[in-house]
Amino acid sequence: MIRGFKLRHFIVACGYDNWSYTMKLDDIKYFDYGKIENKKFWRRLGTKPDFNNKKVLDFGCGHGSLALEIAALGAKKVIGIDLNIDLISFAKGNLDQNFPVLKDKVEFEVIDLLKTDKFKDIDYIVTKDTFEHTLNLDKILEKFHQILKKDGKAFVGFGPLYNFYNGDHGRTEAYLPWFHIIIPEKILINRLNKKYKKNFFKIEDLGLSKYSFKDYIRIFEKSKFKVTYFKTNFSDHPLAFLFDLLRKVKIFEEYCTYNIYSILKK
Ligand SMILES: C[S@@+](CC[C@H](N)C(=O)[O-])C[C@H]1O[C@@H](n2cnc3c(N)ncnc32)[C@H](O)[C@@H]1O
Repeated sequence: MIRGFKLRHFIVACGYDNWSYTMKLDDIKYFDYGKIENKKFWRRLGTKPDFNNKKVLDFGCGHGSLALEIAALGAKKVIGIDLNIDLISFAKGNLDQNFPVLKDKVEFEVIDLLKTDKFKDIDYIVTKDTFEHTLNLDKILEKFHQILKKDGKAFVGFGPLYNFYNGDHGRTEAYLPWFHIIIPEKILINRLNKKYKKNFFKIEDLGLSKYSFKDYIRIFEKSKFKVTYFKTNFSDHPLAFLFDLLRKVKIFEEYCTYNIYSILKK
């Protein structure tokens, strides 16, 4: 039994509901899994702010699980944005169908933050598992800084980082640990283009930002934010401590750091 899989979802999945034709079972499972992942997100950040009456932006909201949780916690307004049309369609449909009481205060939108001036006076920005996919992160942080209120905060958690053993999220199909950084990029890309008849030019075309751990540190430090919390390598895996040990050796740090949890204050 899938955790959190409800009768409503079963009805949808079986096609006994008109809306079922637009809601895929995988999306429902992913959305439900979000409830577990959201708990980890806050635990790893060491805090969960009081969202009561706050205006919040969820950057890279995906299926919308975190945005809905924040709205249910009393936020005045939650805007979830993402570049992925399918995920935003799911998030909107799910909101309409399953969370009607939150409809007045939640919005989901496909929008490029760097191409809009419509957001301002945001109390909190949350962004979960998105920065490892986000290009032009320096400009995104500049925009975060611009749209947040004075003393506003960004709660950021993401991974795996590109230089970790599975940092390609399986997308290069290099299969063996760290092989996506050992095999030349050109070979990986050509192989994918041939196999899937695609026209990728670089790793970034696979939806990965390819930033190293050092890049993130540099970008955070160069931003206008005060970094009030910065921690790495949170995992519930029993063998994760091995990477923690290894990353203490300077030359292994880049390859054994897998995630970052940080709070940025304006
Ligand atoms: C792994 S998903 C995480 C989704 C969600 N936050 C979660 O935790 O389930 C990463 C998301 O970031 C989105 N994304 C990447 N770059 C983005 C950008 N510049 N603006 C908005 N969304 C972006 C992707 O479309 C994708 O939906």
